[in-house]
Amino acid sequence: MTDRTPCQELEVLSCCPGPDPSLVELTLSAPGWTCKPGQFVMLRPKDWGTELIWPRPFSICDVSASGLRIIFQCVGRGTEKLAQLRPGQGVVVWGPLGQWFRLDATRPNLIVAGGIGIAPFVMLAKTKPGNVSLLFGHRLALEAYPFAEIAAQIPGQAMQQTSKADIEAFGQVLAERIKALAGTGQVLACGPEPMLRVIRTYCLRYGTDGQISLENRMACGVGACLGCVARTMQGEYVQSCVHGPVFNVRDIELGE
Ligand SMILES: Cc1cc2nc3c(=O)[nH]c(=O)nc-3n(C[C@H](O)[C@H](O)[C@H](O)COP(=O)(O)OP(=O)(O)OC[C@H]3O[C@@H](n4cnc5c(N)ncnc54)[C@H](O)[C@@H]3O)c2cc1C
Ligand code: FES
Repeated sequence: MTDRTPCQELEVLSCCPGPDPSLVELTLSAPGWTCKPGQFVMLRPKDWGTELIWPRPFSICDVSASGLRIIFQCVGRGTEKLAQLRPGQGVVVWGPLGQWFRLDATRPNLIVAGGIGIAPFVMLAKTKPGNVSLLFGHRLALEAYPFAEIAAQIPGQAMQQTSKADIEAFGQVLAERIKALAGTGQVLACGPEPMLRVIRTYCLRYGTDGQISLENRMACGVGACLGCVARTMQGEYVQSCVHGPVFNVRDIELGE
């Protein structure tokens, strides 16, 4: 389903708070869906009416016979309303959209995820890829995230960040691991922009390849509104919903 212009109404199978109630897991019925890790969907529940006009973008955490799985953090009006969805309700879904993470099994791949940025890597880890490891930085308790699910498939290291010292320690490990991949491996990253900025700096400094997933604000999700543009190294603006959200780390600026 990656080559169609997709918009359809899907039914909610479940919508439940996780171990930390600020993170909610939503499963939609999605027979026949396939997608690639890093792609996303735009969600707009039918009952939003005219109260909230624009759909909201979310990474596809997994898609299988059990449905299309999303994990989201409640941060504002849209996500708080999404958290109230109940089984049987309808959600208009655009997707799968955007570019995805390209693994290269011939060399080491380091996944770096920050917080809810871990979501797209659930699907990637499920295939038990060789030559892949995960470094995960998180603020909430580890059980709040699908870390164990991923770490059951690939080697994973988690570092909780609750203080400035924790953040510095994470940055140091990040620098060491990215440096160790110089010329030999690549980084695949998703998380808050400050983390992506640090990753980009280290990738450029050490000559390590990388792909980063941007979470620019989006409205249409299909390249029409220009609300999500990212600036390329050539000074052009491109829609991150179509040209991204996963970009080569050398191709875009991050407002440094
Ligand atoms: C490609 C993509 C994939 C995403 N995947 C996930 C995911 O898997 N799980 C998840 O929890 N979230 C994800 N997000 C972020 C999610 O889309 C936003 O948190 C959501 O749209 C917020 O909607 P809201 O109405 O609740 O917040 P609003 O009321 O619109 O805003 C509330 C607060 O959140 C901030 N905010 C809103 N959107 C974003 C954003 N895109 N990035 C950073 N801050 C934002 C606003 O600045 C504001 O401070 C993704 C975003 C993109 C672009
Ligand atoms: S969200 Fe409209 S162009 Fe990207």
